[in-house]
Amino acid sequence: MTRTIAITGKGGTGKTAITALLIRHLASSNQEILAIDADPDTNLPETLGCEVERTIGDMKEFMMTERDNLPPDVNKESIFESKIYEILNEMPKYDLIVMGRPEGSGCYCYINNLLRGIMDKMVENYDMVIMDTEAGLEHFSRKIIRNVDDLIVVTDGSRRGLRTAERIRELVKELETNVGNIYVIANKVTDETRETIKQTAEDLGLTLIGLVPADEMIVDRDLKGMPLFDLPDESIAVTEVNKIAERLGL
Ligand SMILES: Nc1ncnc2c1ncn2[C@@H]1O[C@H](COP(=O)(O)OP(=O)(O)OP(=O)(O)O)[C@@H](O)[C@H]1O
Ligand SMILES: [Mg+2]
Repeated sequence: MTRTIAITGKGGTGKTAITALLIRHLASSNQEILAIDADPDTNLPETLGCEVERTIGDMKEFMMTERDNLPPDVNKESIFESKIYEILNEMPKYDLIVMGRPEGSGCYCYINNLLRGIMDKMVENYDMVIMDTEAGLEHFSRKIIRNVDDLIVVTDGSRRGLRTAERIRELVKELETNVGNIYVIANKVTDETRETIKQTAEDLGLTLIGLVPADEMIVDRDLKGMPLFDLPDESIAVTEVNKIAERLGL
């Protein structure tokens, strides 16, 4: 069975950074891993240190333009499927696929239906699927991935941030995506904020699975445009994310 993990939360809380560090952890295991960048801004590849040229969005556009030109007897699903496999980036320790830009105008229902079927099959090839998403939960309604075992909400740990996590928990009930567990990670935590965050999360009934410290090494890499994937083991954020991964049984 494939385990699917999605990372969500407000803008700028550290979703992409946490996703990259979870992938970094998973890369040391022998599991087959698929990383999905489901944010149209496409930041995950850079954070991982990969260059990605083409996206699922590009392949959807290709199908939109080509589908009427294809001979009627060709199987459009298998053409689309081979196009999707063409853009799968095979890294030594994981594969990466990027959703890319949102749709142009026109009806993509047919293409999205094909895509869902293709993604359902693709996901089965992996032990673990880990997905970075854009801020907010609206995109989940696109339902490219139908089942999420663990939804991780990244917050900045402020009371307002944790309230957002609480709201996301409520929103999940309205989604058409099946979500198993919901966990919260407080990110960029300092010694001053740590205890308050724990207390507030408890008051709100949130499952706080870890508190990731504000890490100078992340700030420094960010400034230099270096990937977080290559952070050393000594990084305090890496150390904490590794512990979180163990708590999650990854
Ligand atoms: N633990 C941390 N310590 C220090 N800086 C951090 C930490 N986590 C993330 N950052 C920095 O915070 C900024 C936002 O992080 P990131 O891009 O991961 O957030 P995001 O939630 O994915 O944002 P977006 O909503 O734009 O996708 C980045 O500059 C990142 O380097
Ligand atoms: Mg991001």
